[in-house]
Amino acid sequence: MIGHQAEKLEQLVASNSKKRSKKTRFVAITSGKGGVGKSTISSNLAFVLAQSGLNVGIFDADIGLANLDVMFNVRIKKNILHVLKGEATVADILIPITRNLILIPGESGDEILKYSSMALFERFMEEAEVLDKLDVMIIDTGAGIGEHIQMFLNAADDVIVVTVPDPAAITDAYATIKTIAVIRDDVSLIMNQVKSEKEAQAVFDKIKKVAHANIGPQLNLELIGKINSDLKVASSVKKRELFSLAYAGSSVHKDIVAIANNITKRLERNVLVTSNESGLTGLFKRLMEHF
Ligand SMILES: Nc1ncnc2c1ncn2[C@@H]1O[C@H](COP(=O)(O)OP(=O)(O)O)[C@@H](O)[C@H]1O
Ligand SMILES: [Mg+2]
Repeated sequence: MIGHQAEKLEQLVASNSKKRSKKTRFVAITSGKGGVGKSTISSNLAFVLAQSGLNVGIFDADIGLANLDVMFNVRIKKNILHVLKGEATVADILIPITRNLILIPGESGDEILKYSSMALFERFMEEAEVLDKLDVMIIDTGAGIGEHIQMFLNAADDVIVVTVPDPAAITDAYATIKTIAVIRDDVSLIMNQVKSEKEAQAVFDKIKKVAHANIGPQLNLELIGKINSDLKVASSVKKRELFSLAYAGSSVHKDIVAIANNITKRLERNVLVTSNESGLTGLFKRLMEHF
């Protein structure tokens, strides 16, 4: 069964790489513990990247706990579950947030757990063309390391682990990094809810030291940014608005812009690389290595 599925996916990848002209950079946002700010960061980051002129997609892949529709304050009718059931196409479920930002809504019930991640990727691949114009796709994954999450983390161009500086979250972030390190050498970290740059750096240095000692020097762990703890963030989430829009120019908005700039730099570097290992085709090639 798996062999047959992989074969089908391989054909799709092959036909897709001929059609594709542009590379989409896939950025997976994950965490060890829930409630550390993944969805808040994903939604604001996607918005700021789109504001800079990029075509951005954001995929709500927190299987069973999807809530990006709430973050963006939009109503959704159909979501990825309907796509998996064959009741809608990917194009049908896309929700425009701004001119160049689209949301791919996820499912917040548990019915989706019946569907394999393989089926999800197959459907995506079959309909890859609608996502072709995207420069960046942010994937808001769930916490922990389930089968679905593992596939996203394996295949993405960038994996960003979000943590907050409390000891339990740091322990969970470290465990997540250790699991990701089995499949890839590059992992980025966002320190959320810190008091200062200095605190973010100090906590990061500690994690990095432990990671190097226990995982090995091949792990390239990078602090891609921090976000201060700020009541404006919490109140925006409650009011279903984006803090980078409601509080443009605030220190937390600047924190998100700095992270967006770091991602944009990677995009620019990516343009210089002519291999087809990036983007949707690359994503699925790497996924297939999983089977
Ligand atoms: N930088 C921050 N400052 C203050 N509160 C924050 C910050 N980041 C996140 N939060 C709070 O944490 C809550 C959980 O965030 P959320 O993005 O839903 O986490 P996750 O997606 O990881 O489960 C938000 O509702 C918000 O109130
Ligand atoms: Mg979330």
